[in-house]
Amino acid sequence: MSKKLTISAIKKSKGQKPLVMITAYDALFARLLSDSADMLLVGDSLNMSFAGKSDTISTTLEQMIYHTNAVCAGAPNTFVIADMPFGTYINKESALENSIKMFQETQADCVKIEGGEDKAEIVKYLTSNGIAVCGHIGLLPQSVRSEGGYKVKGKTDEEAVQLIEDAKAIEKAGAFCMVIEGVKAEVAKVVAQNVSIPVIGIGAGKDVDGQVLVFSDMLGLFEAFTPKFVKKYIDGASLVREAVSTYADEVQSKEFPKEEHTY
Ligand code: KIV
Repeated sequence: MSKKLTISAIKKSKGQKPLVMITAYDALFARLLSDSADMLLVGDSLNMSFAGKSDTISTTLEQMIYHTNAVCAGAPNTFVIADMPFGTYINKESALENSIKMFQETQADCVKIEGGEDKAEIVKYLTSNGIAVCGHIGLLPQSVRSEGGYKVKGKTDEEAVQLIEDAKAIEKAGAFCMVIEGVKAEVAKVVAQNVSIPVIGIGAGKDVDGQVLVFSDMLGLFEAFTPKFVKKYIDGASLVREAVSTYADEVQSKEFPKEEHTY
């Protein structure tokens, strides 16, 4: 992507073309992924795939700022979304203080916060103070412990109605787009139809306004578990193991380094 998308271009894309979002955690991959992605998400999922933790709960604001800076450096012409970690937006004052820190210490284009109707007041406070917000509704990874696991949403009429209310509340509060995660496809479709901002799905079927995947999942690098919604576009783990095993063989047999690698 040569030109960074603006918030108004992202909003206008609804109904025109599906948006491509991928997570990125470092400059090296940000650069590679930005060739094809409309938006890079510095997701707090990095706490699992990169930091090796079992969930996203222990991610810190400092960690997110460090990784957001790396991603912005690697992909300066791509729209970057920075996840606000667990506990950094428990009320509107702390949300604003922490989002300002994110904005002042990185080049992030917006922050992402998890929650629906219950977080609308916070989203409104952020957007009215110059912080662009991407919402995140449906399955909320930061609620994994309080919910006792990752639960697909939209399975009952009550849940479906609540999801539509969540999306409307987030839009009304000023969010310019939102992620919808782990939701029955037919419900996600109705949610997307009920708001005029893009709804980007992950595990929410195809009838939404774009898709997001965790890059280490879609490249087959993350092996701990594979959710049903993940498509592995390459078997990255096997490719890496194969390459490193060949390197090890060549070091041991002294086949590497050759003349061309030697000063
Ligand atoms: O942290 C993350 O990677 C996310 C995606 C799952 C949307 O929030």
